[in-house]
Amino acid sequence: MTTTTRRSFLHTAIALGASAAWGQPFSAHSKVPWSERRDYYPEGVASGDPESNSVLLWTRRPPMAGSAVEQLTAEIAEDESFTRVVAIAKAAISEASDWTCRVLAGGLKPARIYWYRFTDANGYGSRVGRTRTAPSDDDSRPVRFVFVSCQNANDGAQNAYRRMIFEDERAAEPDQIGFVLHLGDFIYEIVWYPEDRPQGMYDRRIRDIVRYEHGEKIRDFHIPTDVGDYRAIYRSYLHDPDLQDARARFPFVCMWDNHEFSWMGWQGLQRFGGADRPAQTRKVAANQAFFEYQPARLYKPSGPSLNQFDPPRVVDAPITHFDDHGLGQEPNNLTAIHSLRGYRALRWGRNMELIVTDQRSYRSEEPTDRAEAQEFMSDDFPGLIPQEVLDILDAGSEYKDGHPPVTIKYGGKDIANFRKDQPATNILGAEQKAWFFDRLKKSTATWKIWGDTVATLDMRADPQNLPAGMTKPWPGAGFAGFDASNGTGDHSTAYAERGEIYDFVREHGITGFATVAGDRHSFWAGLAAKGLPPKSFEPVGIAFVTGSISAPGVIEAFEHSFPKDHPLRPLFVGQAPTDTKVQPLMNMLLRHGVRSCLEYLRSGDIQKARALSNPDHSPHLSFVDMGGHGYSVVRVTSDMLETEFVCIPRPIERSEKPDGGPMLYRTKHRARLWRRGETPKLETLIVEGDPKFSV
Ligand SMILES: [Fe+2]
Repeated sequence: MTTTTRRSFLHTAIALGASAAWGQPFSAHSKVPWSERRDYYPEGVASGDPESNSVLLWTRRPPMAGSAVEQLTAEIAEDESFTRVVAIAKAAISEASDWTCRVLAGGLKPARIYWYRFTDANGYGSRVGRTRTAPSDDDSRPVRFVFVSCQNANDGAQNAYRRMIFEDERAAEPDQIGFVLHLGDFIYEIVWYPEDRPQGMYDRRIRDIVRYEHGEKIRDFHIPTDVGDYRAIYRSYLHDPDLQDARARFPFVCMWDNHEFSWMGWQGLQRFGGADRPAQTRKVAANQAFFEYQPARLYKPSGPSLNQFDPPRVVDAPITHFDDHGLGQEPNNLTAIHSLRGYRALRWGRNMELIVTDQRSYRSEEPTDRAEAQEFMSDDFPGLIPQEVLDILDAGSEYKDGHPPVTIKYGGKDIANFRKDQPATNILGAEQKAWFFDRLKKSTATWKIWGDTVATLDMRADPQNLPAGMTKPWPGAGFAGFDASNGTGDHSTAYAERGEIYDFVREHGITGFATVAGDRHSFWAGLAAKGLPPKSFEPVGIAFVTGSISAPGVIEAFEHSFPKDHPLRPLFVGQAPTDTKVQPLMNMLLRHGVRSCLEYLRSGDIQKARALSNPDHSPHLSFVDMGGHGYSVVRVTSDMLETEFVCIPRPIERSEKPDGGPMLYRTKHRARLWRRGETPKLETLIVEGDPKFSV
């Protein structure tokens, strides 16, 4: 068990920019006059980053009717009625942090549920929040957590949170959720105003959720330009009742992905209209709002001031010089991306260490974002790029131990290898990667869970097996990967870096290695391997991706945007003669290959179609649903890890039902702990519903 003295605890609180409340050994009845006034705390309450003896608590109390309060009282109790209060703290609030308030509650007992609330000098109180501490490091009890990503309040509803709460309230205490890991796209910074898009988005209605005071309009959408705008979008999301209730019930562990800063952003750059532009001031503004609105244990180098971010001064200067890891050396860029460090690790009992990384702040340029990469794309095969091309573009100068080809074959032509003199794609960055490896190596937990905001599992198709005459000849030599441009580049095509990580896991004999990811707006379960056939396939761990809470997925996009007369459309969104509507055939394409899809389209017989599965295509996958929404629950014990996908229908409108509306399916994906030298295996159980093309 970690022992924390009161002094070191206060030091931690200061480093986190939080006020501190220290738990007393004896509890007492609350003496604070509190009457609940949720209208005074319109963004609710939250807690975050629990450890075995402390947790961060959060609220926001803006000035009401022109009168501001400068201090709040936070109380932490062992019961919901606050008859057993264990800690109390006064916390300052001010305009400088947009009236948000962070309190680090320490001296708590491990593996306990606590209740907390905030009260102002007039006795006006926040709603009561519930949180829980982690089990101590030597506690071997099973643990459960949820991972989620991608909630869009502009065009969707957060029904997934309602179901999560409903099920958790009915679960026995040992089966309740320990925390919610949010892997990013907590907000979508690009916003449509309803009048800009009267036709809506696909079949979705645009909600009037925010008006940016200093926003910039690009095409038909709006983006934030300063900290006031970023704060406004967080506030608007927190007014969602389902999200607000989830934050009040579960501690959250939050990591940003792209949309917390900018849709196609990387480092201190934004990308619009196919060109990068410096945006260091916006990166700092995005970091400041994240710091203010997410109760998280983040390091900020701006100094130990309590409760304030103190943004460093930067300017939007061109970023032209990149080092050997692809990191832009422009001083404002370095200051902006280092203004808040998000990567961190959390221990949850004997069985789990969660290592969360940042995939956006340090990453190098995505090769397929380069204009020259267009040469390897064709409208005849939308989104598909030969895998051997992706491999060469990813590795850059490091291809074949420093022997990259000068030209690359594509459709019978020799095209210049524009990447031959540049370093391999780097998503984590050198500094973070060194930290990540150190954590992996030193972890003594049974399961080492990598919280990677972006997916690691290969996504590929086998257009080389299309029958002659169906469309033009495939310009590649074999399998196809998918275009990773426009902010979609992830660890599935960063082959060199992923290989380096998996080699590290193998070489150090690390067992119990599992990845949980978001970003892809789809459910995936599979094995973590650096290569697929025709390369050798040697899994070193297991990997999962969660469906989005509400943001539209690829199937939904393809239903509306894949050209209706394209010969390959049925392989993605097609229907058999017996179907009354289009089916998500893309799942079968990714899981089994084109022959299975063509058989289904001909006969409508899923069994017959699966029997034609290409065994070399996706030996790493046991489940894929490109259209699924919902959340994922992980349960770990001393010898097993199980991930449950809870899939709900497309969340177009809010459900008023207490359970958040209907379910589509529930599946479980289970691995026994493997020993050093053994190969991990994953077993799929369909618990409820029929995921059809996904298995
Ligand atoms: Fe997303």
